[in-house]
Amino acid sequence: MPLRNSFAICLFSAAAGLASGAGGAPLPLDVMPAPAEVRLTGSTPAPGKLVVSVAGASDPRLDAAISRAEDRWQSRVSAGGYQAPYRLVIERGDAAGPIPTGSEDESYTLEVGAAGATLRAPTSLGALHGLETLLQLPRLEQSGWSLPLATISDRPRFPWRGLMIDVARHWQPMEVIERNLDAMAVVKLNVMHLHLTDDQGFRIESLTHPELAGKGSDGKYFTQAQMRALIAYAALRGIRVVPEFDVPGHATSWVVSHPELASMPGPYSIERQWGVFNPVLDPTQEATYALLGDFLSEMAALFPDRFIHVGGDENNGVQWNANPAIQAFIRDHGLKDNAGLHAYFNKRLYAILAKGGKRLVGWDEILNPLLPRDCVIDSWRGPGALATAAGLGFDGILANGFYIDLCFPASDHYLPDPLPPTAGLSAAEQAHVLGGEATMWAEWVTPENIDSRIWPRTAAVAERLWSPASVRDVPEMYRRLAIVGARLGEAGSLHDRNADLMLRHLVGANLGAPGVASLRTLVSLVEPVKHYDRGGLQVWSNQLVPLVGLADAAKPESEPARQFAAAVDRMLFAAGGIDRAQAASLEGSLGRWGAAGSEVAEHMADTYPALREAVAPAKGLALACSVGGDALRALAQGTPLGKGQLAEEMELLAPAAEPNPSATLIPLVAPVRLLLAAAAAQGERASLSDEQWRSWVVSTAPPPAR
Ligand code: ACM
Repeated sequence: MPLRNSFAICLFSAAAGLASGAGGAPLPLDVMPAPAEVRLTGSTPAPGKLVVSVAGASDPRLDAAISRAEDRWQSRVSAGGYQAPYRLVIERGDAAGPIPTGSEDESYTLEVGAAGATLRAPTSLGALHGLETLLQLPRLEQSGWSLPLATISDRPRFPWRGLMIDVARHWQPMEVIERNLDAMAVVKLNVMHLHLTDDQGFRIESLTHPELAGKGSDGKYFTQAQMRALIAYAALRGIRVVPEFDVPGHATSWVVSHPELASMPGPYSIERQWGVFNPVLDPTQEATYALLGDFLSEMAALFPDRFIHVGGDENNGVQWNANPAIQAFIRDHGLKDNAGLHAYFNKRLYAILAKGGKRLVGWDEILNPLLPRDCVIDSWRGPGALATAAGLGFDGILANGFYIDLCFPASDHYLPDPLPPTAGLSAAEQAHVLGGEATMWAEWVTPENIDSRIWPRTAAVAERLWSPASVRDVPEMYRRLAIVGARLGEAGSLHDRNADLMLRHLVGANLGAPGVASLRTLVSLVEPVKHYDRGGLQVWSNQLVPLVGLADAAKPESEPARQFAAAVDRMLFAAGGIDRAQAASLEGSLGRWGAAGSEVAEHMADTYPALREAVAPAKGLALACSVGGDALRALAQGTPLGKGQLAEEMELLAPAAEPNPSATLIPLVAPVRLLLAAAAAQGERASLSDEQWRSWVVSTAPPPAR
């Protein structure tokens, strides 16, 4: 891996002088991830046709990217009628091999002038990134599409910028992976980590052991021919494919066909539930290594990447503890405990992988000073664990903080940093931190809605991993996230386009029927519950139960609710005083949303049985809007709510914050609580500093627990 550089962001805006994403000013471009250095020189109406040529020899990867780029530019920018061609010349050095390795120079410079553009890159991978930047430059303005003129000099902060997709728990076929590879390329992610085996499924064909996928997958797995095609598809987009085969725990699907290799007698069947389960391979049997040797050697030949991930997480120890022969093996071999046995197991895997020229990657639990230092730690526990690993000399990747399956807001995933300033690592230790990856665990996603869980929030993770560490302005991130969301859709992601499909699960073919507009409003204003709370609310659900409810149709982060909360924040906490003029427009939104909630609650569940579970959140939405309306009127009029009134309104609001069987929550509850607290305390505003006022309001209105 090349040494990671740290670059100061240096953004010059022609109009505003120095502008920076870190200081709260908008970046002068809509590009995401933000480039390392930009010098803006002006803007010009955007020509509707992009014509790209390569100075010198091209290669198939660049040809394919150019063709896609020309099509995407034209389909977007040509609307508006200015049809002149815009010429881009690409000058690049070495082509880079056909299969990316993670050690290429991915930098580029892009000069965008009125008469044409030049893209220079040492490798075709850098050229691909520069093309994506150019595609993100045109901005839609009132006068039509404009093209910022700029000199951009850009390179990644980290060489490992990944997205993990779990295809084991809910099967995700070829087309899901392909369209997510297309989206990854838009935001310069370069590692697709496929979690191919887990308790709930064994998703890759083995020719030496066809029984593994044969019995462990319900027939839902990638053939080797399909996997070769995916690897080639990814390589054309500059993306590596890193496979994961999770052992020794999370291994039920392995022992369905090989119960003799489990640590307790079988038989076993494919696990249908979610959680941490007991089945674990027996590391004391030579037969275990014979199977793993056959299988991993075969996989080492199938996957060209240098890294193979062997999982290693969450062995609960139940089977190892219960098996006297395994405990005797630990004693006889001086391994001390289960952790020692795990290290022994990993050393055996290491030897198998090393023969195939591969480096071993595993989750935090593999970390052990006994392991060779070219093993890599994928940390789901945090940057602290990564720092420990780096201190011991291991390379690492950060997944913690980037768990997009937990349905937290994009801002939660934007700020975690693989190398936080607090880590206190030496330069040599810092070089061990290769980057990070967003993880799309698949308990609660299907091919129909997985894109909406990944995008656009993963673009925020992509920016963390590509852009300079100083790019951390959350409102500015959200401004560009909305724009890049549209670009991701153009590139193939279905995160927005599948919204109607999810609505059809609720109302059948009746998308135009009365009330469905209100249902759309409800869906747009609820979110799936956070963290792993859904399992507790829908205990009857498992791998075989379709995911077609309100929580599945809802997005992880409601954009209208987020914008409402931001507007409430601006209104209440404006420097110097409450902006009362804002209250009326916010009240208008709440009025419309509340009416939609009431309509769904009162009129739709009788017609559409799938909406019975939506009654509680629909009522909750109506309540939150009604209480919020009361608070806004009190603020607009400058009439403080009395103490009793505040308690009454908070009480009225309480049911909207309660868990409900649809496993959704109402994000408006938090800003409505702020409005109530502010409405009650507004008489004190003038006597408090801005900071005292914020702290008073926020502490009176704690947000609902997440
Ligand atoms: C993990 O989340 N168990 C890697």
